Amino acid sequence: MAKLRVGVLISGRGSNLAALIEAARAADYPAEIACVVSNKADAPGLAIAAASGIPTTIVSHKDHPDRESFDRAVSGELERQGVELVVLAGFMRIFSAWFPTRWADRLINIHPSLLPAFKGMHVQQQALDAGVRVSGCTAHLVIPDLDSGPIIAQAAVPVLAGDTEETLSARILRQEHRLYPLVVRWFAEGRVSIGGDRVTVRGLACDAMLLFSPEP
Ligand code: GRF
Repeated sequence: MAKLRVGVLISGRGSNLAALIEAARAADYPAEIACVVSNKADAPGLAIAAASGIPTTIVSHKDHPDRESFDRAVSGELERQGVELVVLAGFMRIFSAWFPTRWADRLINIHPSLLPAFKGMHVQQQALDAGVRVSGCTAHLVIPDLDSGPIIAQAAVPVLAGDTEETLSARILRQEHRLYPLVVRWFAEGRVSIGGDRVTVRGLACDAMLLFSPEP
């Protein structure tokens, strides 16, 4: 069966991209990374993609007069590569309403908190400041409102005494690298259905699966 063609949008490090590439190496993984688009020419993730022979494109927001014209340029690249699912992986540009509308129900993001708690930037520090005992990551559909789309799945981690922004971020990131390839797999297997603001994944016990992985 043909694999789902995934386009990954990045701006930086690319560790989630690397996790997706690694997952897609397995012969039985139902999705392939068709292309990577970055808005930054110096994003380290570009080299990760290139090392795996994945086509990369840079679309700089600086070359576009407004958000929508940038969005249309990114979308054009994705269309050229026959992309069917758009995966944001550390993509640091805010779209106009045009992009999430164009890719409605086929555009996902991963965010390093248990949404709807802690939106925006430095969310791991926000979690520490709030004194929560549990945090994690959320894979969600992207809608025009920032960090607000329907939740697909979440993974939880403990917040430990003595955690810093760095240690908590690293613990959450390890779960991102497990969760995101799983979520892309669900899309590729056609198991995700979207009704209003609810996402259902066929074959799971609940609407949004919760992983909890205590670590030593
Ligand atoms: C991750 O923490 C992700 O949750 C957030 O941006 C970061 C991207 O990291 N959206 P990387 O570029 O995938 O390493």
